[in-house]
Amino acid sequence: MPAKKIDPHVFVIMGGTGDLMRGKLLPALARLQEAGYLNRSSILGVARTPGMDDAAYRAWAWNALVEDGMTSESLRRWCETSFYFEPLGHGEVKDYRGVAQRIEQIEKETGSPGNRAFYLALPPAAFPPTITELGKLGLNKSPNGAGKGWTRLVIEKPFGRDLQSAQELNALVHQYFDESQTYRIDHYLGKETVQNLLAFRFGNALFEPLWNRDRIDNVQITVAEDNGIEKRAGYYETAGALRDIVQNHLTQLFTLTAMEAPASFDADAIRSEKVKVLRSVMPIEPQDVLYGQYTAGTVNGTKVPGYRGEPGVAQESHIETFVALKFEIANWRWQGVPFYLRTGKRLPRRVTQIAVAFKLPPVSLFRSFDTCQVHSNILIITLQPDEGFDLSFEVKSPGTPFQLETHNMHFRYSTPMPLAYQTLLLDILAGDQTLFVHAEEVEASWRLYSPLLHEYRPLAHPYPAGTWGPNAVNARMGQDGRSWLLPVLSQKDFRSEENAAVQHPALS
Ligand code: BG6
Repeated sequence: MPAKKIDPHVFVIMGGTGDLMRGKLLPALARLQEAGYLNRSSILGVARTPGMDDAAYRAWAWNALVEDGMTSESLRRWCETSFYFEPLGHGEVKDYRGVAQRIEQIEKETGSPGNRAFYLALPPAAFPPTITELGKLGLNKSPNGAGKGWTRLVIEKPFGRDLQSAQELNALVHQYFDESQTYRIDHYLGKETVQNLLAFRFGNALFEPLWNRDRIDNVQITVAEDNGIEKRAGYYETAGALRDIVQNHLTQLFTLTAMEAPASFDADAIRSEKVKVLRSVMPIEPQDVLYGQYTAGTVNGTKVPGYRGEPGVAQESHIETFVALKFEIANWRWQGVPFYLRTGKRLPRRVTQIAVAFKLPPVSLFRSFDTCQVHSNILIITLQPDEGFDLSFEVKSPGTPFQLETHNMHFRYSTPMPLAYQTLLLDILAGDQTLFVHAEEVEASWRLYSPLLHEYRPLAHPYPAGTWGPNAVNARMGQDGRSWLLPVLSQKDFRSEENAAVQHPALS
């Protein structure tokens, strides 16, 4: 990780005993501590958990780390000395006052100069009252006065349920907090390969001149999960794949792939290019989107129930667990190049990939050899499970007759990647907003999906768990003269029949 300067601070986690803290924030904080970033950090958990106090919270944090196999003596000491707990009671004004007093007391005790981060690790319904109470008590401002020290607000996804609710939430945030204090999280932006997209595109002179409608036939972005909804029916029944993955994670991958080169590598420049490309996307037409819902099937050799059979899901639920859609971008770079996006639960494997399919050579030199089929070059950017890049190219098969075969250049990181939350937490504490979603961006993204949320709701086609979604998905792609590439994990996958099928419409 790059060296970042972290000022002494109090890191307040609202929802300090919840699943997010337990599963994501705590392991990430522990890694940052081990890397020496949190020496002057105090962590204050705030929650309604009955019977919790400083001692119990320290034991809770330490036990959780031990469960995760993080058992060093220095981490035990860290939990003992840096963790504090403040109960939130019924969330009344006096409880928030208690939080304010506790922060001041910790600052006095540790000599911390008044820098504060408030992390809302809470269900979305709790965002507005929490922001309001923090603001009313003046916790939105630095206790040292303007320009001295910092106060930051961190908000988890989902940020709103649609354009209107996102606008309302932004208005509330801005009533108390400046945009420069606000960190909207999309954890995909913390993933190393997502950031590497920028390095790949703008750090190599090779690809950028080809990154446009002259050379690219289509782009396919897949976020596939083999798991189901786990124990989150309550949330998922009100969200569905569009709100859960498409509006945020998938849209982020799309914008980073399609945006123009920023003027510099700083937060404002990058975020404003992302907003521009979102604003250039044409309205999604009903025929360009398809929903699915998994039925019972077999995933990775295990029989699993259908979505409607999951505990807590309504028998007649029409919630989508799969979305495939097509974006057309009305700008000089991308006019006429479709971007196909898809995500689904209970697909055959967990894989996140961006496939950029280049056009075929303009002249088919090898046509006279009827044994020869030219395949397009495909660049595959894999975000998970193994982060890296592949680029397919055609070579002559040795010997006669004259035949071509596809091979690929293959790069995978061999070092373990930092956790996405590790990167994001460090950036929050260092005051770097590059990997966080700007107010305008979150609204531009919801605006794209407004027709699907308010004008027409696509029917969810059934698909058996363990397949790549409803059959109709391929039929739709077929109408464009293309097919979905199967995710590529190895050289062998590149040579598969299905993956060889990206045809230039003019030559097919
Ligand atoms: C979350 C979604 O934001 O991202 C989950 O709510 C999804 O439904 C998860 O499973 C996927 O994240 P990752 O990092 O495991 O790809």
